[in-house]
Amino acid sequence: MTTPSLVQRPRRLRANAGFRRLVQETRLSAADLVLPLFVKEGLTASAPIESMPGQVQHSEASLPTAVKAAVKAGLGGIMLFGIPARRDAVGSEAVAEDGILQRGLRSARQTIDDLTAAGQPAPVLMADTCLDEFTDHGHCGLLRQRPDGQTVVDNDSTLTVYGQMACLQAAAGADVVSPSGMMDGQVGVIRAALDQAGFTDTAILAYSAKYASAFYGPFREAVDSTLVGDRRTYQMDPANAREGWRETALDLAQGADIVMVKPAGTSLDILHHVARRSDVPVAAYQVSGEYAMIEAAAGRGWIDRQTAIIESVTAIKRAGANIILTYWALELADWLMA
Ligand code: PBG
Repeated sequence: MTTPSLVQRPRRLRANAGFRRLVQETRLSAADLVLPLFVKEGLTASAPIESMPGQVQHSEASLPTAVKAAVKAGLGGIMLFGIPARRDAVGSEAVAEDGILQRGLRSARQTIDDLTAAGQPAPVLMADTCLDEFTDHGHCGLLRQRPDGQTVVDNDSTLTVYGQMACLQAAAGADVVSPSGMMDGQVGVIRAALDQAGFTDTAILAYSAKYASAFYGPFREAVDSTLVGDRRTYQMDPANAREGWRETALDLAQGADIVMVKPAGTSLDILHHVARRSDVPVAAYQVSGEYAMIEAAAGRGWIDRQTAIIESVTAIKRAGANIILTYWALELADWLMA
């Protein structure tokens, strides 16, 4: 057998762990990762989320433990969602000074500040700025009956509420507000409301390219969603790429400080495109269904859990995300330190 005269042998750089480490292009770090957390009003202890094994709804008493862990792990941020005890058509608890999300933010702010020495980086505190957890119908905005009798999710009246929510969240200690409702003009209205109230330093993470996705399924359990139907009149059709850039460009023009693509795993092409064109940092949300799929398969022994998690998150970073929201943030940070 003669040796072929191959000059190009890519395998040379894969021959051992040292080479592989040296040439690795994409490296995860705890600082890239943002942990989504849920706090539910009225709970006496944290409650497991069945469709998201390992994740819980926090009680107000258990929340600080999770926030502490995020600080200790050196995570880039925390994204807080609130689940109120009482819901109504207009989502009143979202704009109540003492609403569960505001209380959770104040508590998280306190925990973070208590644990962080002056001048040291701390996880950035982010708040979900959306109505779906607070409305009894489960939609992300207010409903309006059109003259023809059809009920629609009303864009413009919802914007006013988002502006109020953002100011309350900023006052409660959020560094970042995160409009995820896909109403037209939401970033601009929130920026104006924040600035008018003096919160000029509060940043906006815009859910810019957010698709109507089946992969949000387990999240609906996580927030006890009451939604009937779907969100296809405001979230985008997963078939559309051009529209994802259009939405992102609109948010950039309205002053988004960070733009996000969601879900991450089924939108890597969109993410790549946004990352090439955006001049602000780009985030991606590895959503509940992506989490549930890997957990379910790993639970049955069908895939290797740790390798699958690292591969899925690395792919999101490789596609162009600077910031990754993932329910595995704490565990990943742990592995990265090991
Ligand atoms: C809406 C919101 C959703 C998610 C984050 N923010 C649900 C939706 O749009 O229906 C989903 C996140 C996930 O699935 O992990 N406020």
